[in-house]
Amino acid sequence: MKPVKVGLLGLGTVGGGTVTVLQRNADEIQRRAGRGIEVVIATARDIKKPRAFDTSNITLTSDTQAVVDHPDVEVVIELIGGTSDAHTLVMRAIDNGKHVITANKALIAKYGNEIFAAAHAKGVMVAFEAAVAGGIPIIKAIREGLAGNKIEWLAGIINGTGNFILTEMRDKGRDFADVLAEAQALGYAEADPTFDVEGIDAGHKLTILSSIAFGIPLQFEKCYTEGISHITAADVSYAEELGYRIKSLGISRRTDKGVELRVHPTLIPERRLIANVDGVMNAVLVKGDAVGATLYYGAGAGAEATASAVVADLVDVVRTLTADPENRVPHLAFQPDALSDLPILSMDDVETAYYLRLEAQDKPGVLADVTRILSEAGISIEAILQKEQAEGVATVPVIILTHRICEKQMNDAIGCIEALTSITGKVVRIRLETLDGK
Ligand code: NDP
Ligand code: HSE
Repeated sequence: MKPVKVGLLGLGTVGGGTVTVLQRNADEIQRRAGRGIEVVIATARDIKKPRAFDTSNITLTSDTQAVVDHPDVEVVIELIGGTSDAHTLVMRAIDNGKHVITANKALIAKYGNEIFAAAHAKGVMVAFEAAVAGGIPIIKAIREGLAGNKIEWLAGIINGTGNFILTEMRDKGRDFADVLAEAQALGYAEADPTFDVEGIDAGHKLTILSSIAFGIPLQFEKCYTEGISHITAADVSYAEELGYRIKSLGISRRTDKGVELRVHPTLIPERRLIANVDGVMNAVLVKGDAVGATLYYGAGAGAEATASAVVADLVDVVRTLTADPENRVPHLAFQPDALSDLPILSMDDVETAYYLRLEAQDKPGVLADVTRILSEAGISIEAILQKEQAEGVATVPVIILTHRICEKQMNDAIGCIEALTSITGKVVRIRLETLDGK
């Protein structure tokens, strides 16, 4: 059988990794796919830029449309990123009857519903394993491996750059900006790195995971995102004293009222495996009703790790080229006409435990006032820690861990605590999850 011809949009970190892996493992890949795979045309903005991989057998062009319109190309791989040109090109490739593979989580989270509908109508595949958690085959695990389960919740460290920054700051006391610059140099960060540090990239990925876990349409606009830039060394250290690590987690949970969809820094007990996932590594915990809690771990970003997922999609697409479109695995795991209209919950309705840090005047009755407010709001305290007064500082830090409570009740209680004259400044609030498999 003739090799399958592929058009590649983008020759950057992931594009380069994909070319390298396809070349190095060509024999193994062909034995798995049943056919050879040839990248025949590829595009970059600057095709004269020196590349650290071999492009001698590939026609290079800066004309992106030449790739998606190429008559011999059966599969287009989109690795340029962004949601403008990438959207136009992917839609055009589908319209031309080409299968599409993408690592672009922003594109899928924002335009996935439209893209999958167009692909379904045309009978082509759109594969996006590399869009979530880099090299970890998490889409396949949830969509196929856990297909017998009712998924109850999932929680993951799904941004490699953010986890790299938090780890280097904690372990080596490095400066935020300095670690971010290193993540950019290593090719981990997004073109706009605020996507990494403000939880937006993780929000894109969580939106995708949530859809395939619960069979709901992609709804990124309803995802709550909070970044890591306000996490202080003091909070990291107090959390450790209490037996917790701070990680940026994406959490999605099915409740009777709807689906939680939230990304924020989170305290996790340090004894949990996921609390010990460091550097650029990612991990996703998925709780199914039949299988219980399962954990998936691996590199969350980087050239070849991400290429591993892109090439796995390519092998899947090549294997199913001749299959009847109706018998393929559905894009969002559930049949397109069987998606559910479960609502996404607002943060006010989310229930979680909390770490609170307040600066209190060191005088009798202050703690009693704070605990009275919490008690009147129905908030039960799990632990309390009062630190010594530092020299020259008028207040003392008080750290409180609470049991689970609805966010709205916590917001009201925080408002009352901040109104006390004995409390200075804002209360620092970080959410806490025990992730104990229940
Ligand atoms: P890079 O910036 O390294 O590469 C982008 C490539 O696309 C470059 O070759 C660039 O050309 C080309 N390009 C960009 N815009 C255009 C355009 N409008 N028209 C034509 N070519 C264009 O990005 P990455 O490889 O890091 O990321 C690619 C995608 O993969 C993104 O969606 C990203 O979110 C996703 N991803 C990235 C991961 C990573 O670890 N980096 C991991 C998982 C997903 P030129 O080389 O000339 O600049
Ligand atoms: N910028 C992303 C991250 C790339 O750091 O996780 C992988 O999706």
